[in-house]
Amino acid sequence: MHILKFLATALFLVASVSLAQPVVDGVIGEGEYANTRTEEASGAVMSWTIEGDTLYFAATIASRGWAGFGFASAITDRKQGFDQYIATMDGDTPVLLDMYQAATRNAPELDEDEGGTNSILAFAGVHADDVWVIEFSRLLDTGEETDVAIVPGTPMIISGATAPAMDIARRHDRSSQGGAFVLDDFVF
Ligand code: HEM
Repeated sequence: MHILKFLATALFLVASVSLAQPVVDGVIGEGEYANTRTEEASGAVMSWTIEGDTLYFAATIASRGWAGFGFASAITDRKQGFDQYIATMDGDTPVLLDMYQAATRNAPELDEDEGGTNSILAFAGVHADDVWVIEFSRLLDTGEETDVAIVPGTPMIISGATAPAMDIARRHDRSSQGGAFVLDDFVF
């Protein structure tokens, strides 16, 4: 009886640890993340877990070229001020760029060029059959002006964009034609 109780406790602990802490390996496992939300028009599926002071964020999104996500605490002027992340290919290697949207339209800039730093703690991505699988982690609050502080439980803005080319100098399709979306009630 004693040993059964011990085994049950051990199993429970293993299960809760694996639920709490996603593995950033480019594979989004069933139940790996605590939360999931789908943006209907694009079909983008966004999953996230908050573990201590860290956000684990994952997404699948159909895109022939690069794909990006942006976070913000509020909309000020179009996408100006968004904390942007773009997954693209550097040759054969998937990369995730930590960027900041200084302009109301056109491309964001690398955080490094806007007084910030690359705040991505871990990233794994796979682009296959015109679909991106993206997983990354970062601190909820990096303390940088180029990163929005993620406040769990408070509605925030999340944005996504998909581009026809694997070149961040080339824009996404027009936002009015499904190339970019904005959700203004996203609760981490
Ligand atoms: C994380 C990456 C990106 C996201 C999430 C994103 C998102 C958006 C959104 C939501 C809008 C519409 C804003 C509004 O009018 O309310 C927009 C507009 C625009 N974006 Fe981006 N964007 C990204 C990257 C880029 C890049 C790399 C380029 C150019 C190389 C670009 C060029 C434009 C242009 C020209 C517009 C104005 C026309 C339109 O609304 O489609 N964006 N973007």
